[in-house]
Amino acid sequence: MGKKRIVVLDFGGQYNQLIARRVRDLHVYSEVLPYNTPLEQLADEDILGFIFTGGPNSVYEESSPHIDKKVFDLGKPVLGICYGCQLSAYTLGGTVSPAEYSEYGNTELELTGESILFEGVPAKSQVFMSHTDKVTKLPEGFKNIAKTALTENAAFMNEEKRVYCVQYHPEVEHSIFGQKMLANFVYKVCGAEPTWQSDSFIEERVAEIRAQVGNKKVLLGLSGGVDSSVVAALLDKAIGKQLTCVFVNHGLLRKNEAEQVKAIFTDKSRFSLNFIGVDASDLFLDRLKGVIEPEQKRKIIGKSFIDVFEAEKEKLTDCSFLAQGTIYPDRIESGLGISATIKSHHNVGGLPKDLKFEGIVEPLKDLFKDEVRAVGLALGLPAELVYRQPFPGPGLGIRIIGEVTKEKVRMVQEADAIYREELDKANKTLGLKLSQYFAALSNMKSVGVKGDHRSYDYAVVLRAVETDDFMTARPVNLPYDLLARVSDRIVNEVEGVNRVLYDFTSKPPATVELE
Ligand code: XMP
Repeated sequence: MGKKRIVVLDFGGQYNQLIARRVRDLHVYSEVLPYNTPLEQLADEDILGFIFTGGPNSVYEESSPHIDKKVFDLGKPVLGICYGCQLSAYTLGGTVSPAEYSEYGNTELELTGESILFEGVPAKSQVFMSHTDKVTKLPEGFKNIAKTALTENAAFMNEEKRVYCVQYHPEVEHSIFGQKMLANFVYKVCGAEPTWQSDSFIEERVAEIRAQVGNKKVLLGLSGGVDSSVVAALLDKAIGKQLTCVFVNHGLLRKNEAEQVKAIFTDKSRFSLNFIGVDASDLFLDRLKGVIEPEQKRKIIGKSFIDVFEAEKEKLTDCSFLAQGTIYPDRIESGLGISATIKSHHNVGGLPKDLKFEGIVEPLKDLFKDEVRAVGLALGLPAELVYRQPFPGPGLGIRIIGEVTKEKVRMVQEADAIYREELDKANKTLGLKLSQYFAALSNMKSVGVKGDHRSYDYAVVLRAVETDDFMTARPVNLPYDLLARVSDRIVNEVEGVNRVLYDFTSKPPATVELE
């Protein structure tokens, strides 16, 4: 409310937040609302236009999500995408029919007429299609503006009513001029101004947080990862001393990480929040004694985290709100309910639902990771924290194969610090695309020789992968010299390690982490 925006109406497609995100990339605020949002709410004068998303249904099925025809009488522009395109045509009197063949994947879009929507888009360009139904007859007053080999009405419009429809998905990268088309819709059709950015996001969230929380107190479980750190900084700006951050050190963090997190968030020249650091390393190690089964380790770490956090919470009786660093991809993952448990990806820091609070504060819940990073930088968090690579909640506990001991934690911490230091240095000139890289400790002991002595020590495993979504991953082809340097340093500097191996397996069949 109160801010100029483009509303994405959600019809159940998988790319819905991505569409909003593409609009935000154009520096125009955008939010996703359910398709059945009441008309009065959609009439808000600050809504500059609508984008109807795709969805898995067929418009002619009664149970499919439909839309009140009056939306088209609000005088606001509409861009229908895929299902949203078919629905617009259907609602306005056109015909949608099942196609003989589904059209899936990249295809060539050919423009058939002039339109503001395709200004600056070449006559032929690649787009991404994913549909079975298609619009076979346009509603009255509409004009065809693009086709593909299989879909005659690949794009059409009613310029006067400012309704534009495209069968393809402009929001995905495979549609090469998708963003150009969206920019035309957002700027030229809707008249939006590119004024929205991280700064405005921060101001708006700060105002919202203040309105939600009032003068009450907020508790945040701070892990030191990007998301919870950005929430901490944002809440600090909004409510300062009313925020208490509890940082549980489970003793399975990377080398010096606990100290770094503490140094950043206890810096009074930067933050006025209350920081409570709990060193629970001994408790975690104690509970992990003798445990080798990976899932059991994860469960013990998750449960212990909750126990420690709850014990702290008991002491802070006056916190009414719980803040969480949930970001948009976390919500898709839980929403889709991944069917097979490959690994229980409980987020340590992901707290049980029955914790009693008056409310939850989740200011990043609609953002993608790189948007969170931009907000973090704008809030003045250090780049090394903001660009931290993903680190699993159970930490080094799942990077030590077999039983976790204090000695093994030390070995993996040191080996990992060396590896990251050398790789970061080398990558300034190599420019490799690295999504995640770390050292793990295998449970393999092997014979070596150091000086004149026989050794019987552990083998460290180095891993470096590149991935877009972590569902699949490819090993990175690291230069031999670099691997040799890292290996030399590790066996020389890390007591207890006499061999270094490089893991060259893809995911699948391996996973990124070793457990
Ligand atoms: P895998 O090993 O499943 O890892 O291929 C994919 C990505 O997820 C991270 N990961 C976790 N993150 N809690 C987390 O918060 C977990 O239990 C967990 N397990 C794996 C992993 O670091 C990689 O980025």
